[in-house]
Amino acid sequence: MRIVTENLSYVYSEKSKELAVQALNNISLTIEEGEFFGIIGQTGSGKSTFVQHLNGLIKVGKDKGSIVIGDFNLTDKKCDFKSLRAKVGMVFQYPEYQLFAETVKDDVAFGIKNFFPALSEKETEEMVKTAITLVGLDYEIVKDKSPFDLSGGQKRRVAIAGVIVTRPEILVLDEPVAGLDPQGKREFTELLKNLHKTTVKTIVIVSHDMNFVSENCTRVAVFSHGELYAEGSPKEIFSDFTRLKELGLDLPVTAYLTEKLSETGIKVESDITTDGFSDAFAAAYIENKEKRRREE
Ligand SMILES: Nc1ncnc2c1ncn2[C@@H]1O[C@H](COP(=O)(O)OP(=O)(O)OP(=O)(O)O)[C@@H](O)[C@H]1O
Ligand SMILES: [Mg+2]
Repeated sequence: MRIVTENLSYVYSEKSKELAVQALNNISLTIEEGEFFGIIGQTGSGKSTFVQHLNGLIKVGKDKGSIVIGDFNLTDKKCDFKSLRAKVGMVFQYPEYQLFAETVKDDVAFGIKNFFPALSEKETEEMVKTAITLVGLDYEIVKDKSPFDLSGGQKRRVAIAGVIVTRPEILVLDEPVAGLDPQGKREFTELLKNLHKTTVKTIVIVSHDMNFVSENCTRVAVFSHGELYAEGSPKEIFSDFTRLKELGLDLPVTAYLTEKLSETGIKVESDITTDGFSDAFAAAYIENKEKRRREE
């Protein structure tokens, strides 16, 4: 399912002159099926407001543009939001707060009972088991535990299992690695890459972690003050150092090094992933060394 938004705008507290906040302003963005799409931007730039539109948590207002996801026209009053939510799963920041049931298996089963009430207990259990295994947990060990007795990283995994259990085609995540330690972040990144390969077609992820974005995303949108400031591949987005710094955004380490090296005359042309950068740097270093030798 492809996601197409056209001139999407949103104003919080629109009726109040003093409180009204224009959170989105004419966002036209297409996210193709299969992408690992990143959304970056300063705090308050409208990222969460945007992604909450994608499964109808925030509805498209009258004369506020349009959203079409696959066959779902979210602007249409008759849109079947329940079916949409089974197809577009949403994981919030601190997803562990999405947990609520007494046992892990009941928590993960909730989505199935909600979206597919006709399924048998046995079918439900099979789907729960598959989802829990997909997020890297041992079903037999965790199924009867209280979700609140798990570690922070495990809680996030259970929350994600509860979203992917309905087999959504699109997984939307709003800053899912916030608050995790480096090891936790690495494991979570591996989990997302694995889910993208095996389970969900498209991932849309809001992130403040530029290294994560440059390493994993197929394309990136930069939001600024509710507007779509730029979109492109990580290489395109992160090569505009000056503008990104003006927006108060960090650079991935690879982009920062590329800039610093170019100041010393070493030009490194890479896709700015760590592997791409390392290879290109090695080549540029050797070339630079030979050039100097020839000049001597
Ligand atoms: N419930 C709300 N009521 C009123 N204004 C809101 C509400 N939620 C967000 N806003 C405002 O809308 C704008 C966009 O907020 P949003 O949460 O979408 O930004 P964000 O890019 O997700 O920021 P962050 O990186 O801090 O999560 C901000 O000015 C914010 O203050
Ligand atoms: Mg946000």
